[in-house]
Amino acid sequence: MNMQKASTMKLVKTIEEIRSQVAAWRKEGLSIGFVPTMGYLHEGHQSLIRKSREQNDRTVVSVFVNPMQFAPNEDFEAYPRDMAHDMAAVEEAGGDIIFNPEPSEMYPSHFTSFIDTTETTELLCGAVRPIHFRGVCTVVGKLFNIVCPDRAYFGQKDAQQLATIRRFARDLNFPVEIVACPIVRESDGLAKSSRNTYLSPAERQAATILSRSLELGRKAIENGERTPGKVIDLITASLKSEPLARVDYVEVVDFENIQRVERIEGSILVAIAVYIGKTRLIDNFIINL
Ligand code: PAF
Repeated sequence: MNMQKASTMKLVKTIEEIRSQVAAWRKEGLSIGFVPTMGYLHEGHQSLIRKSREQNDRTVVSVFVNPMQFAPNEDFEAYPRDMAHDMAAVEEAGGDIIFNPEPSEMYPSHFTSFIDTTETTELLCGAVRPIHFRGVCTVVGKLFNIVCPDRAYFGQKDAQQLATIRRFARDLNFPVEIVACPIVRESDGLAKSSRNTYLSPAERQAATILSRSLELGRKAIENGERTPGKVIDLITASLKSEPLARVDYVEVVDFENIQRVERIEGSILVAIAVYIGKTRLIDNFIINL
């Protein structure tokens, strides 16, 4: 990413401003793509913006570190923020406008309404981050109502988030097409994430164990393994071979309902969460059999 020159990207802070811009575009008959983010954009986010640009006349990118999806012991305060960098990244990828509200704009006092989900949020990150998905779904639902996009773009790296947003958009009749985009990786396999910036050089090296372990699981399935427990054991043993890694979970679930399966068949999500030092990283692959 070349972020040297100052960006002229349009940035708005209020719901009124983004609504009136989208309304003006709609009046011209233009289609709207939407990429919700928490900022500190990397090539993964840029791939979503590029996909949206390909499929829509205009692309709105939101940059909002959503306090509601962080538990008190999590990294809301430390989460990296850099608006100059984000403006240049959106411009480079071809986005048209950034919506960057303050928390008070999104959550006025006495905010008491939430989107709660079941089934897809019971396991994986939902089991270990109990309030996380209520925060994600509530903010994404609000953003859908504010931006009113034709299509919204989500990365497969957050596969449980993707399955959950697909589900609530369907269940609650949000008139938006959810478009899934593949994981973007560093050359050594580490999935791109804003949280990778927390890693020390030694931890950054150790973090390659995530994709390497998943690759072992994928090969086992490709070679005919169909028992979830065996794939989980293989991946867990590989992760444990890295002294800086602490396994949070390794799961094999069906990608639609995010429920455990007895046998590996259909559309399967193999997902892991691992602490490297203090940084919690997630990664996954989806296999269709
Ligand atoms: O994936 C993210 O960055 C966030 O969970 C999202 C979808 C922008 C909601 O805050």
